[in-house]
Amino acid sequence: MKVISLENILKQTNSDLLVCVLEKGGFKEKFPSKHVLSTLDKEFSGLISQALTRMSFKAEANSQLLLGPFSGQRCSYLLVVGWEGKKGSEDYRKLGGLIYAAAKKISAKTVTLAQEAIDLKAALNLQALLEGVHLSAYKFDNYKSKKEDNKDSEYAGISELHIGAKPKDLKEVAATAATYATATMLARDLVNTPPNDCIPRFLADTAREIAKKNKLKLDIFGEAELRKMGAGAILGVSAGSDTEPYLIRMKYPGKKGGKRIAIVGKGVTFDSGGLSIKSGSGMETMKCDMSGAAAVLAVMSVIQELQPKAEVWGYVPATENMINGKATRPGDILKAMNGKTIEVLNTDAEGRLILADALSLAIKDGCDTIVDLATLTGACLVALGESYAGLFSNDEKLRDRIFKSAGQAGESFWELPLIEEYKSQIKSSVADLKNIGTPGAGAGATIGALFLQEFVGEAKWAHLDIAGPAFTSKSDGYYISKGGVGFGVRTLLHLLQEF
Ligand code: BES
Ligand code: ZN
Ligand code: ZN
Repeated sequence: MKVISLENILKQTNSDLLVCVLEKGGFKEKFPSKHVLSTLDKEFSGLISQALTRMSFKAEANSQLLLGPFSGQRCSYLLVVGWEGKKGSEDYRKLGGLIYAAAKKISAKTVTLAQEAIDLKAALNLQALLEGVHLSAYKFDNYKSKKEDNKDSEYAGISELHIGAKPKDLKEVAATAATYATATMLARDLVNTPPNDCIPRFLADTAREIAKKNKLKLDIFGEAELRKMGAGAILGVSAGSDTEPYLIRMKYPGKKGGKRIAIVGKGVTFDSGGLSIKSGSGMETMKCDMSGAAAVLAVMSVIQELQPKAEVWGYVPATENMINGKATRPGDILKAMNGKTIEVLNTDAEGRLILADALSLAIKDGCDTIVDLATLTGACLVALGESYAGLFSNDEKLRDRIFKSAGQAGESFWELPLIEEYKSQIKSSVADLKNIGTPGAGAGATIGALFLQEFVGEAKWAHLDIAGPAFTSKSDGYYISKGGVGFGVRTLLHLLQEF
């Protein structure tokens, strides 16, 4: 999609779809005299104001009216979008989604967006708008034997988007938006790929391609190496699976004087629960249990394009959580890479086990700032639902940075506490730690986070529990479709770009 800025859309526009944004209260039988819709209404012999009146269009937030087709006019269709209240960049992302949906409906190739009521000169708004357009074009049909005979498969997308504003750095912002969207969509693809194909080796192969393309240093530790390294926790989780586990490590060197940061993603390619087996319905979406890994790989896949100053290490512990005769039993004791012993009382609390080894390695490698992403607990999903991820941190500055990046990315986090008092719950009578808290004592997301904290030492650390927003059962109506969301990718990218 080419993004072109026009000084004056009324002089220059000729497109399939013209989009005008109207503020709530901005239409009372007629348009304010300076609004582009006022001029257009005259051109269209009052048709627009008549339509808005008939439909009682109030221009409420994200309400819309698509008019057309017109012939012999400057556009074949006109889309009026309502705009209400104080607007942040996320509203621009949603606007991008609405524009794409309308364009698809009428198979528009060229789309023009007027500048009234919106501010496309602010780089973050423009970036968000373009991300919304790109992301709403996402589809995952690799596994359909017949491409469906509908708009979804026929529509080739918007080829030119004309905007009625002249932002600085338009080219750069458009490229960044495309990069952010590409990364988000890679994460979605990885999550959506079924777990009979997306096995640990698939993640390792993906990492190999990414490292090659981005010239990143890469280590893929297989079972034999994990044994040598003492990664007993990953090995304990993978014991019940017939596929080999891997611990993937990638490094982007950063620039002179850049700080070091590690991003770590839970990569359970399928979580059956192990011997503490999940219910049938509880397992239905468990291919999403590698969403943290998907986010880390997606970030590393575009890191050379974005060239952050920081030295970025990406870690992905990848395994299945399955059941065969060798599966870890409740009561087994594992030894993590940092020497701590763990009594496994519930094999379904496996994410914290594989992360224990990955975090230990990051610490060993000298990473003093670590952000992990994991679909770690059902409790976090219960607490915050599908729209918010939980954020735990031992460092206020890092926490604030993540909140800022999340705001820019249009991803929502809610801080949850690391409650010291509950630490005693993960003390074991026979090992250093146990992998679950006191049954019935609640605070499941916090218990998971406290367990991870045992493996980060003094490092600045944040744990993002993305069990809620990683996967969705329905489209959000704007730019997120059913399935993998690619959650966390854009927050991490903003974080790294400013780190
Ligand atoms: N992968 C799940 C968490 C999850 C649940 C992610 C729902 C996405 C949606 C995790 O491994 C798990 O099963 N956690 C257990 C922990 C418990 C046994 C302490 C849980 O949340 O029930
Ligand atoms: Zn589990
Ligand atoms: Zn899991």
